[in-house]
Amino acid sequence: MSGASYDVKDIEEARVTFTKSNIKMIWTAKENLSILQLAEKAGLKPDFGCRSGMCGTCERKILKGQVYGPEGWEPQGIYICQSKPASTEIEIDL
Ligand code: FES
Repeated sequence: MSGASYDVKDIEEARVTFTKSNIKMIWTAKENLSILQLAEKAGLKPDFGCRSGMCGTCERKILKGQVYGPEGWEPQGIYICQSKPASTEIEIDL
């Protein structure tokens, strides 16, 4: 994760694109969903396990932008169950 000098409140709204499914969603600070929850709201069914950033089942690649949340093992990997936008334009390999 990067961007430690600012917190989630700095982003009011982010455009999140799930690239494999070609779905675009708007994330808002008001709703404050994780990327996983946002994907589920879009009707996607990503794999998950613990939903608390521990197991790594939900790991996906971030292709554009930045998130707050745990880094995964793969290059660009993030655990989407605990990730929230840290930039206004995000693309996730999902
Ligand atoms: S579901 Fe376990 S780390 Fe995300």
